[in-house]
Amino acid sequence: MNTPKRYLITAALPYANGLKHIGHLAGAYLPADIYARYLKAQKRDVVFVCGSDEHGTAIPIQATKEGTTAQAIIDKYHPIIEQNFKDLGIGFDIYHRTSDPLHHETASEFFKDLEAKGDLETKTSEQYFDEAANTFLADRYIKGTCPNCGHSEAYGDQCEKCGKSLSPEELINPVSTLSGNAPIKKETTHWYLPLNRHEDFLRKWILAEHANDWRPAVIGQCKSWIEGGLQPRAVTRDLDWGVKVPVAGGDGKVLYVWFDAPIGYISATKQWAINNNKDWKPYWNDPETKLVHFIGKDNIVFHCIIFPVMLKLHGNILPENVPANEFMNLEGDKMSTSRGWSIEMDDYINKWIKPENGGTGLADSLRFYLTAIAPESKDSEFTWKGFQESVNGELVSIFANFVNRTWVLMHKLCNSKVPKIHPEYLDDEDHALLLTVKDAKEKITGLLELYKFREAQFEVINLARIGNQYMQKKEPWILAKNIDTDPTAQAKIDNCMHGCLQLSANLAILINPFLPFTAQKMCHLMKVVPKMLEWENAGEFNLLKVGYTLRPPELLFRKIEDAEIEAELTQLSANAAAKKINMETTPVTTPTGADKEGTKNELKPEIVFDDFGKIDLRVGTIIEAKKVEKADKLLELLVDLGFEQRTILSGIAMHFKPEDIVGKQVTIVANLAPRKMRGIESKGMILMAEDAAGKLYFVSPSEAIAAGSTIA
Ligand code: MF3
Ligand code: ZN
Repeated sequence: MNTPKRYLITAALPYANGLKHIGHLAGAYLPADIYARYLKAQKRDVVFVCGSDEHGTAIPIQATKEGTTAQAIIDKYHPIIEQNFKDLGIGFDIYHRTSDPLHHETASEFFKDLEAKGDLETKTSEQYFDEAANTFLADRYIKGTCPNCGHSEAYGDQCEKCGKSLSPEELINPVSTLSGNAPIKKETTHWYLPLNRHEDFLRKWILAEHANDWRPAVIGQCKSWIEGGLQPRAVTRDLDWGVKVPVAGGDGKVLYVWFDAPIGYISATKQWAINNNKDWKPYWNDPETKLVHFIGKDNIVFHCIIFPVMLKLHGNILPENVPANEFMNLEGDKMSTSRGWSIEMDDYINKWIKPENGGTGLADSLRFYLTAIAPESKDSEFTWKGFQESVNGELVSIFANFVNRTWVLMHKLCNSKVPKIHPEYLDDEDHALLLTVKDAKEKITGLLELYKFREAQFEVINLARIGNQYMQKKEPWILAKNIDTDPTAQAKIDNCMHGCLQLSANLAILINPFLPFTAQKMCHLMKVVPKMLEWENAGEFNLLKVGYTLRPPELLFRKIEDAEIEAELTQLSANAAAKKINMETTPVTTPTGADKEGTKNELKPEIVFDDFGKIDLRVGTIIEAKKVEKADKLLELLVDLGFEQRTILSGIAMHFKPEDIVGKQVTIVANLAPRKMRGIESKGMILMAEDAAGKLYFVSPSEAIAAGSTIA
C-alpha cells in the first residue's frame, strides 16, 4: 500500500437549521474523526474539514417557523453545533460556514469556470410562481395532494406521509405556502449540469475502478443511478437565499444548495490554509492527495456522482473513497428531531458531560457505544439499555478495570514505580503478551485503513480483555502473600506489572482515535506527554521507563445506573408524546401548517395502561412568568405544585404575555426528567392544546382546585 502524500478528510456539512442528533454524529462525524485522529497519530499530513451548510430552502423555512430571519437562524445554530462537536471530541481542523464571503467567492468562481467552459446548459421551462408573493416557488414552498397516497399536505419535493419523492408538477391541487393561493406557471431559465455527458466516466471510475474498495451499499446506489439513466440536473434556483448566480441572466437566482455546499469543503480548506499559513491548492489539485468524504447514506448521490463530475470538470482531484454509513435508529423507531424521537447532541452534553456527571469520560462513553453499534453495513439501533450494557460491560469492566487494577497493584506491590524486568523469570506468557500487542496493532491498523471502525474498536477492547486474563493468570496479589517465603515472588510480580503497565501504554495509543479524552487521561496517569500516543509507539514495551513514578489510580469511566436509563426513556416518550407541545427546539406553530396537519386525525399507536400510568400529571398554578433572555419562544414559569414550587420553561412566549398567565391553573407532567435550556433547568412540562390554526390553549381544571391535585 502506497502511503498518500497528504489527506483531505471531509464530514458532511450539517444544515444550520436546528440541533443535530446522535444519529448524525454516528453517521458522519465520529467515523471521520476516528479516521483523522488515526492518520494524525501516524504523523500523516491531514486536514479535516467541516462547517455549516447555511443555504437551501430549509433555512428560510425554519426562519418562518421561528418567526425570524434566515440570517438569525444560522447565527443561532452555527455556534451551538460547532461547540457541540467540540464537546464530543470531534477535532475538525476548521469548522467553516457557507455564508462566509470566502465561500460565496469560491462557489461563484467554480460556477463561472464551468459556465465559461461550456460545461453547463441552460434551459427555459415553466415553473410555479406565486403572483401575490411575486416569486417563483421552491419545491418546499408548494403543497398539494400526494398522487401516490392521497395525503393532502404533500410537499413539492416529497410526501412525508408515504415518503415518495415528488416533483411539484405531480401534486394535485398545488397551493403556495406563502400566500395560500394556487400558483400559476411562468417561464424561467435555469442552468443545468448535464450528467448524461459523463456516464462513461462515472461507469469507469465507480463501477470499474472502485467496485471493490467502496462499500457495497455505496456502489449499489451509484449503480442504480447510472443504470437509471443520468439526466441534466438543475443547479440554480429562483430564490433569494444562497450564492447569487454570478453570470448574465442570473438575477434573482441562486446556486442550488447541493451545488454550493460541497464546494464548502474547498472554501473550508482555503480558510484553514489562511489561518495556518499554508497552501490549500495541493489538497484539491495534487493527485497524491487522498480525499475521503464521510457522509450518511442519504448523501451518496451528491458525493459519488454530482460533486465528482463537478470536481472533474473544474480540474480537481476525486474522492478516493466515500464511506457512507446507513442510519441509526433509536429504541425501535427512526430518529427524528421534529417528531421528538431523538437524542440531540446538545441534550446529551448538557445532561451527561457536566463535570459532576462524568465529564469528558461520558463524552467518550457515547463515542464508544456509537462506534460499537456503528451502522457501517446495515441500519443499527441505539437503545439506552444497550448504551448502559456497552459502557458498563466493556468500557468499565474490561478496559477501565484493567487499567485500574494495574495502577492499584503497581502502587501497592511495586512502590508506585515502573518495576524492572527480571529476564531469568520471564515465562512464555510474558513473551506472548508483547507479541499479542504487536498482532493487535497490525490488525487494528488494517481495519482503520479500511474504515472498519467498529471492528477496530472491538480489537482494542479485546486487547484489554487479554490483559485482564494475563493478570488473572499471574495473580500478583497471591505472589505478594508469599513474598517472605518465596524468593522469586517479587521478581515475578515485577515482570507481571511491567507487562501490564506497558500494555496500558499501548492501550492508550490504540484507543486514542476512538476515545481521545480517555487517552489524554491515561497520559496524565502515566505522566507522559501526548507525543507518546503516536502510532509508531504501539507494539513497543519500553514506553514507560523503569523506575519512573506514576500517578495514583483514577477511574477512567463511571458506571451508568438503571435509574439514569429509566429517566432517559421516560424523557424520550414524553418528548415524543409532547412533540406538538412546548419544547424550545420544536417550534410551537408552523405558520404554513407544515408537517402537522396531515397527522392530526391519526391516532398514535395503541398503548397499554402501564404506559400511561408512568406519567405523573398534576394541576399546577402559575405564580410567576417572565421572558427568557435571547430565547424568543421561551417563558420561564414558577409553578406551584402544592408540595413544591418549580421552574418550568415553556415555549409559549409567542402566544401568551407573561402578565396574562399568572394565576392560571395548568396541567403539568410532573415526573419528566429535568432538562436544561439556555442555562436554566426546567423541571417538568406544561401540557397545551393546539387547534388547527395553531392557537394554543392551557389544559385547566374546570374549577380552581388545590395545586398538586393529581390527574388520571
Ligand atoms: N447539509 C447536508 C445534509 O445535512 C449535507 C451537505 S454535505 C455537502 O444532508 F457536501 F454538501 F456539504
Ligand atoms: Zn404520499
